[in-house]
Amino acid sequence: KLEETSPNEYQDNKFVCQRATPLKHHNTKFTDALEILERHAVYVDSTQRDSRALAFRRAACALKSYPKQITRIEEASKLSSVGNHSKKEILENGSSDEVQDILSSEFFKTMEVFSSIYGCGPATARKWYEKGYRSIADVHHAVSDGMKLTEQQTMGFKYHSDLVKPVPKEEAINIKDIVIKELSKIQPNCIVELVGGYRRGKLSGHDVDILITHQNNSKVEGLLHKLVERLEKLDLMVGRNPHFESKTLYLKSVKGIGEGSQRQGGHMDSLDHCFCMFQMGKSFENEKVEHSCMQTTGEADETGTSTGSSSSEQMAAVVRRVDLIVAPHKQFPFALLGWTGSKQFNRSLRDYAWKVLKVKLSNHGMWDHKHIPVRQVEATSEQEIFHELKLEYRDPHDRNA
Ligand code: CTP
Ligand code: MN
Ligand code: MN
Ligand code: MN
Repeated sequence: KLEETSPNEYQDNKFVCQRATPLKHHNTKFTDALEILERHAVYVDSTQRDSRALAFRRAACALKSYPKQITRIEEASKLSSVGNHSKKEILENGSSDEVQDILSSEFFKTMEVFSSIYGCGPATARKWYEKGYRSIADVHHAVSDGMKLTEQQTMGFKYHSDLVKPVPKEEAINIKDIVIKELSKIQPNCIVELVGGYRRGKLSGHDVDILITHQNNSKVEGLLHKLVERLEKLDLMVGRNPHFESKTLYLKSVKGIGEGSQRQGGHMDSLDHCFCMFQMGKSFENEKVEHSCMQTTGEADETGTSTGSSSSEQMAAVVRRVDLIVAPHKQFPFALLGWTGSKQFNRSLRDYAWKVLKVKLSNHGMWDHKHIPVRQVEATSEQEIFHELKLEYRDPHDRNA
């Protein structure tokens, strides 16, 4: 469903969060090209993300919410976010020599491969490129010669072929259902939402983001640890490599920081968060472990066939990235908004809140700095957050900036 605004009244001298950015839009051939220019700019200089790369991203965003296909350059000229460099791409119909050259360059191709490894950001990719590595095999070679990898990169390499496969929405829902089921055995009445790209209507994603809360604050404390422990016992998680102390890649639980945190910018928050990897499609083994697990916990009401994974029996085992996040109930709407994204939508929302209203918005809450002393503004839903920010509500499907 595309935005109804007629091109004549369309304005882009607004914040991205003030307009609808649907997943499907009319200018894909241009935005695809602009996204390549953006990625290339980041690869060339990942410390300068805010200049060239940002300009391409802004232009792409303007075209994504433009209600029709841009056919003439004069149309693009009306969009203030579309700079000269981006206009050139439109003039050349999204397939300029520049984009073609980037796509065929060794630098870009190598950086794309390295960036596809979990735990390898543009700075690391660049470092490897500068050392002369040109392939995953080159990096493996360097590792066997003693180069150190982070835990995440080690996992990223080990499961690379699985992790580059997109996760279909049905499987994301299946993973969410497993989480709901296991949570219900630890803590009844949890609230669980599939967030990230799927909540914005995407049919596939690179990982599965699951946000959890409970109405009772005392039930939230320690919940993620218990959940992760249980999932590990069921053999649903991978990472049992002897090099790791725990099967969990990264488990963070910063007590007390969340509530009063006013940190702005960055997209890291201090919610309990576990970056993990699920082993999917090993239903037989999972059931076996569940049986032995049940004997020790004394749960007798379950039959071996109710793991909900019988349909995946024929499926080859595949490893999936899963982000599990637990938020206190009071922070839930903010965490929901933040973890639904898109990143660019969030960036714009925070930018708008601060520049227009002097309100600091984070995944934990919002704080009004026009008020002295600074006043925390509460909200019980995403709708209320938009309302407090004096913005028209945007459905998650329209947050695909
Ligand atoms: N996010 C966040 N805090 C983090 C990590 C992510 O607020 N520590 C937000 C991101 O800004 C993003 C959303 O959570 O808006 C989901 O992140 P991610 O999984 O990286 O992106 P998706 O939009 O889900 O895209 P994909 O389908 O590729 O997973
Ligand atoms: Mn995601
Ligand atoms: Mn994620
Ligand atoms: Mn919609």
